[in-house]
Amino acid sequence: MKKTLLITGGAGFIGSHVVRLFVNKYPEYRIINLDALTYAGNLENLKDIQDSPNYTFEKADITDANRINELFAQYSFDGVIHLAAESHVDRSIIDPNAFISTNVMGTANLLNAARTTWKDNMEGKRFYHVSTDEVYGSLGEEGFFLETTPYDPQSPYSASKAASDHLVRAYGNTYHMPFVITNCSNNYGPNHFPEKLIPLFINNICTNKPLPVYGDGKYTRDWLYVIDHARAIDMVFHGGRDGETYNIGGFNEWQNIELVKLLCKTMDEKLGREPGTSEKLIAYIKDRPGHDRRYAIDATKINKELGWYPSVTFEEGLSKTIDWYLENEEWLNHVTSGDYKKYYDTQYTHR
Ligand code: NAD
Ligand code: TYD
Repeated sequence: MKKTLLITGGAGFIGSHVVRLFVNKYPEYRIINLDALTYAGNLENLKDIQDSPNYTFEKADITDANRINELFAQYSFDGVIHLAAESHVDRSIIDPNAFISTNVMGTANLLNAARTTWKDNMEGKRFYHVSTDEVYGSLGEEGFFLETTPYDPQSPYSASKAASDHLVRAYGNTYHMPFVITNCSNNYGPNHFPEKLIPLFINNICTNKPLPVYGDGKYTRDWLYVIDHARAIDMVFHGGRDGETYNIGGFNEWQNIELVKLLCKTMDEKLGREPGTSEKLIAYIKDRPGHDRRYAIDATKINKELGWYPSVTFEEGLSKTIDWYLENEEWLNHVTSGDYKKYYDTQYTHR
């Protein structure tokens, strides 16, 4: 069936994998990638599909309501997959307002435009909001986040994402907007901006810089390979039930310090370094304020309803990810020049 889909944030890490999957898998769909190209957005991520006949890029900011309304009027989108966001917890601690503006107001602008465009016929329309497990807050040593876990966001980032999730559900309830929401755990993989743990540490190992582990290093995350997240988004977009939430996770918990040691060992092997060389770079530093102790997802619902399960093990995914960074030095050099240095100094050097 012909459809025109809006994917927001498609030049970012996860968005670029979603855009690629949809453009290649659904030649009958017209895919419009809307992205403001902030520091995190990079069209180099999409070089392989940029000339595809079913793909169009629109540089636009979701906080600009007029422009968003114009684009909805121009394209009459049948569906939205909304990924555009400010996404890094540490940056949200430095500048919360950017998060409130993009994640809350930006989402409201998209919902308003969709509501206006679809008001006479919601049949076959879908607003898919891509969210995070961080909205549920922090777990102790036991238990998992379920779709029914009460929201308890602890950082400006997670609070802004929680607010946007609430808005989407409110539009569903009040205006009968057909929606789905997914809350996913930490992603890793190719094209990940080197401010998040895994790509930052890969870059620092390559350049022999310290590996800044926050606090005692015993914080725990559930890691998922980004292509498995994109597969889940495809399945939920096409098969998820209206008004439902699905948690997505990797069934793969790691304490940060254990993950960093595995990364060091694997990189020593790949770089032909003496075993133990990269581990010497580990440097414990002052903790992140309000640091969530543990995230862990129970992804039974999406598994049972839609048959989704991660397709790669963590060891395979991590190995593929490291290989990608080693083979794409130019990409890494590009994104770590300019403003990145300023951010790095503020976050780590003057800590
Ligand atoms: P990212 O920071 O790599 O990419 C975000 C993209 O959004 C960038 O291309 C950026 O240019 C664009 N963007 C930012 N502000 C914008 C604005 N005002 N208007 C238009 N575009 C704008 O983020 P990501 O890691 O790919 O995350 C994508 C989505 O998935 C986010 O909504 C995030 O909350 C969610 N999520 C991320 C993870 C993760 O581990 N990275 C896990 C679960 C959920
Ligand atoms: P991050 O990749 O920023 O994702 P999130 O905070 O959204 O989970 O961080 C993952 C974990 O790694 C988190 O517990 C914070 C920790 N961390 C460090 O120890 N050092 C770092 O330099 C970074 C960026 C993260």
